[in-house]
Amino acid sequence: MANTANPVGRLFEDICTMAAKEIGIVNLGRGFPDFSPPQHVLDALVQVTQSSNPLLHQYTRSFGHVRLVQALCKLYSPYYNQHLDPYQNILIPVGAYGALVCAIDSTVQEGDEVIIFEPFFDAYKKMINDIGATPVFIPLAPRTTESSPTSHSDDWTFDEQFLLSKIRANTKAILLNSPSNPLGKVFNQRELEIIRDICIEFDLICISDEVYEWMMFNFKKHIKIATMEGMWERTLTIGSAGKTFSATGWKLGWVIGPEPLIKKCQVIFQKCYYRCPTPIQEAVAIAIETEMTRLESEDCYLKSLARDLENKRDYLASLLAEIGLKPILPGGGYFLVADVFDFHKQIKDSELEKHSSKDEADDVRFVKWAIKEKKFGAIPVSVFYSDENKRRQHLIRLCFAKQLSTLEKAGTILKHW
Ligand SMILES: Cc1ncc(COP(=O)(O)O)c(C=O)c1O
Repeated sequence: MANTANPVGRLFEDICTMAAKEIGIVNLGRGFPDFSPPQHVLDALVQVTQSSNPLLHQYTRSFGHVRLVQALCKLYSPYYNQHLDPYQNILIPVGAYGALVCAIDSTVQEGDEVIIFEPFFDAYKKMINDIGATPVFIPLAPRTTESSPTSHSDDWTFDEQFLLSKIRANTKAILLNSPSNPLGKVFNQRELEIIRDICIEFDLICISDEVYEWMMFNFKKHIKIATMEGMWERTLTIGSAGKTFSATGWKLGWVIGPEPLIKKCQVIFQKCYYRCPTPIQEAVAIAIETEMTRLESEDCYLKSLARDLENKRDYLASLLAEIGLKPILPGGGYFLVADVFDFHKQIKDSELEKHSSKDEADDVRFVKWAIKEKKFGAIPVSVFYSDENKRRQHLIRLCFAKQLSTLEKAGTILKHW
């Protein structure tokens, strides 16, 4: 049956935002940058709005503005080791969110099952449930249970046999997210090979959500599963202009894949969106063209954003580690997950009870307490878990795609915690 409730993670973000307004909290709960997109991206939008070409304000090609699909084609063809066709292999929906809807709704049907790695971006579950299909959760868990002050999302992996045991006749697709939200998990070559082999053996579609592909840390290279042998024809890869250019409000995404799968996505797209705003598409096209002239230079935002975020990740991680909120260093993306278990134990029950009840998950109780008592906003990671696994969580998600001054304010709170 269709589930009409909002994804819980979004609700928690809204609670944090309201609290931020009401009591002036430092909000690392909200999952987007509080800094502006790079100047050349802003300039591109100005250029479009001031253009004397009236057509830039009218409907454009339904499946993607020509200049944009051509720019994406030029940017991505080398990464796919093939010449992408701008008209057959790319679709431009409203954000990566819209791209996910197109990919899921066009490949999965009522009664199908879809594999998701847990913790997962909360929208996946709802999107799959809404079409009457069932998400099947594969836990990502740390290889070692040893408790250390800082660990790495690389240590979190899945059990191959468990994954295999969950493949059934009605399994239709594997939904992959690398780097992931919330964990910042970057799937390595071996893990991707396991997923590839299973997709091929059981004839599954892979929906690969790669919105954080440019935010890779410690010189790691992003691997596109679509480029692995036997995967192109069965993979839909999803990207986001909002994440790429720190302009999440622009809400423009893309799906890249083989012509037959893209054609199916187009059918859903026409039903839901029909076409995306022309000025935003033109501006993103100009921004990509500009980036392509800078790929080898220090100014290239596709690379400098990752450097900037890596420094911010390290800064936040060291603050957390100092006070015993154990950070799990992400390999990529916007987010850092920290373990609050030891810390939570030290807060008196009477303190927690002021803001939450005992039947709520530990991480939810901790976050409610932190918002009210410490003016510090975070997202409890249990919202990124299935109902069966929610209760046991004691992790919080923090977004470090923030101005240094915001992180410093967070640091001041943490130091006096
Ligand atoms: C993993 C993941 N996929 C997709 C999206 C949606 O991206 P967009 O804002 O481009 O719709 C998000 C946004 O938070 C995300 O974290």
